[in-house]
Amino acid sequence: MRIGVVGATGAVGEEIVHVLRDRKVIVDELRLFASEKSAGKTRDTFLGDITLQTFSVEACKGLDVVFLAVSGSFSLTYAHAIIEATGAVVIDNSSAFRMDPNVPLVIPEINGHTAQGHKLIANPNCTTAIAAMALWPIHCRFGIASLIMSTYQAASGSGAEGMSELQQQTNSYVNKEQLQNKVFAYPLLFNVIPHIDVFLENGYTKEEMKVAWETRKIFGCPNMDISCTAVRIPTLRAHAEAITLETVLPVTCNGVYSSLESAIGVDIVDDPENRIYPMPLNASAKENVEVGRIRQSLVFGDHGIDLFVCGDQLLRGAALNAVLIAEFMEIGDYSRNAPLAPTRVFNLRPKEMKILLFSSIVSAILVAGVFITKK
Ligand SMILES: NC(=O)c1ccc[n+]([C@@H]2O[C@H](COP(=O)([O-])OP(=O)(O)OC[C@H]3O[C@@H](n4cnc5c(N)ncnc54)[C@H](OP(=O)(O)O)[C@@H]3O)[C@@H](O)[C@H]2O)c1
Repeated sequence: MRIGVVGATGAVGEEIVHVLRDRKVIVDELRLFASEKSAGKTRDTFLGDITLQTFSVEACKGLDVVFLAVSGSFSLTYAHAIIEATGAVVIDNSSAFRMDPNVPLVIPEINGHTAQGHKLIANPNCTTAIAAMALWPIHCRFGIASLIMSTYQAASGSGAEGMSELQQQTNSYVNKEQLQNKVFAYPLLFNVIPHIDVFLENGYTKEEMKVAWETRKIFGCPNMDISCTAVRIPTLRAHAEAITLETVLPVTCNGVYSSLESAIGVDIVDDPENRIYPMPLNASAKENVEVGRIRQSLVFGDHGIDLFVCGDQLLRGAALNAVLIAEFMEIGDYSRNAPLAPTRVFNLRPKEMKILLFSSIVSAILVAGVFITKK
């Protein structure tokens, strides 16, 4: 594959290059693009030193796959232009096209088949992607009717600048200097900020609504009830998420364990008595997401589960997912890696299921009654 990475000096772009190396993707040519500020500098890569270029559509000619890791407005301006001029597949990490009905929003293990025939593919929001890996196997077996999520998101979720702002604040604290903040609304060190992305009219932030919108699109469940509170915390890398689920079918912890044990991309890390549970320090630089603290919900009873998920948002939530999409499309056989699928269509809530069951039993009794009377 001849590959271009646009935004190659950023948090996601750098990670894409590492993933290409670590997964031993056969890369015949690698072109790295960044802004004018970085052009001319070199990057030490698995293919040797590569000079960073200023991006232009023209400079993408001859590439098979172009990863965009810049910003939403950049992708809106250039994604289609690249495809038209070069015929390359564009995998976009920004939120620009995620909710476009003509653009597939893809996690290969869940809905890879939706990428078939498309040149522009959207990579999901990092918080959404991490949760989806843990939730999909549970959804396939028990059906998720509703979910409530609170997140604990790392500084690197705001890119390379977010990460360096937290590091600078740590240095300032050690040197007894005043903490400066530009990327985050307040100093992040020793703080917790319930504000990621812009606030919307309904009081939620855009980051919180992305979790709802994108999970519904990826799972193909437009009616799933989802509420999220997204919070920035002073970790450098890997997001954590506390999730409460209400399921359509009765669910048990053992059922969840067995669904997750056989799932791809998930590690069960759940032995609280020995102080083993998912944490950002352990989940960082790890491809799989960690799931633990699995327990029966005190609110939803036998239709509910609480769990804690932790995953490297730069990897699973961005770079790894993007490279997996490219690999999946390169293989081209969309039936070979058939992803796990729900055993049934879960579009009913538990109460509706009970009503349906009750009315089916009543109908069966009535039909049987009519039949017996006729005899
Ligand atoms: N960070 C995450 O956890 C995460 C996760 C999932 C998705 N995303 C999304 O991925 C995208 C990139 O995020 P990031 O966190 O990697 O951002 P970042 O660390 O701020 O990096 C931005 C990159 O874009 C480059 N750039 C800026 N203007 C450019 C231009 N005109 N032409 C070419 N390159 C240009 C920058 O190059 P210079 O260094 O030369 O300025 C840098 O390499 C965003 O859309 C973000 O929402 C981020």
